[in-house]
Amino acid sequence: MLPATKGIFDRLTRRGRLMTKRTCDRQGHVLRTGRYLFRTPTAWEYAAAAAGGSDPAAQRWLGWQPDSIVAEPMRADALRVVPGTGPHWASPDPQSVDLVMIDVEAGRCAGLVSVHTGEDGGPETGGYLAPDYRGRGCGRVLFAAGLALAHEHLGLARVRAGVEVGNIASARSLQAAGLVRVAGPPTYRLPDGRIIEAWWFQHDVPRPAQCGGPQANWFPASSVL
Ligand SMILES: CC(C)(COP(=O)(O)OP(=O)(O)OC[C@H]1O[C@@H](n2cnc3c(N)ncnc32)[C@H](O)[C@@H]1OP(=O)(O)O)[C@@H](O)C(=O)NCCC(=O)NCCS
Repeated sequence: MLPATKGIFDRLTRRGRLMTKRTCDRQGHVLRTGRYLFRTPTAWEYAAAAAGGSDPAAQRWLGWQPDSIVAEPMRADALRVVPGTGPHWASPDPQSVDLVMIDVEAGRCAGLVSVHTGEDGGPETGGYLAPDYRGRGCGRVLFAAGLALAHEHLGLARVRAGVEVGNIASARSLQAAGLVRVAGPPTYRLPDGRIIEAWWFQHDVPRPAQCGGPQANWFPASSVL
């Protein structure tokens, strides 16, 4: 596509607008890091991200409720969703800001990261990668985006993450993103009710900031700015 034509495409199509959006607004957040774009997902992108976390290897750690898991025959289709397509979507958890991770070069949804209410009522981050993106160091990029969302977009000075003891890939990715091990409750409850032993990680910044995107206004004022 010629650059001039591409400019028109970007302006006129919903997909083009979504993929070239540079700043956060009332509709959602956007942040860019290298070949990955993180932004508020459309309904289809969210379905693709959910499919990417629905395989047994991921569910071993994520422990979602059965009705949140995308069944095997539909996973491959969902993972083929073209980023930038699909209707507006509202998070099923009103106390979670979710961002889909998009591999812009490959045109694929690669994962999801969120900032949500944690075990202690304070801000927590967590996420997962689609199978093809695991084992390549992308976890660091994913969790760094979770920190950027918390600190630079939602005005949160402190964010924590809980990991099941033994999830080395997750623990090392959190540390690579800059979080440090801290003390915390010995256990953690997964969405399916399973109680796991937990390692805790934390990241603080002195001067957090808020963007023009939707804010996590359910947190107590002491957590924000
Ligand atoms: C957790 C997750 C985000 C990690 O991202 P990732 O990019 O796949 O992580 P990697 O496989 O690159 O592993 C990170 C590091 O841990 C190391 N590692 C992974 N598993 C390990 C193991 N069993 N023993 C020792 N080291 C291990 C890797 O070698 C890598 O080391 P490096 O930093 O020196 O390169 C991703 O694997 C995922 O989405 N998993 C499924 C869902 C999940 O567990 N989510 C987190 C819930 S808290």
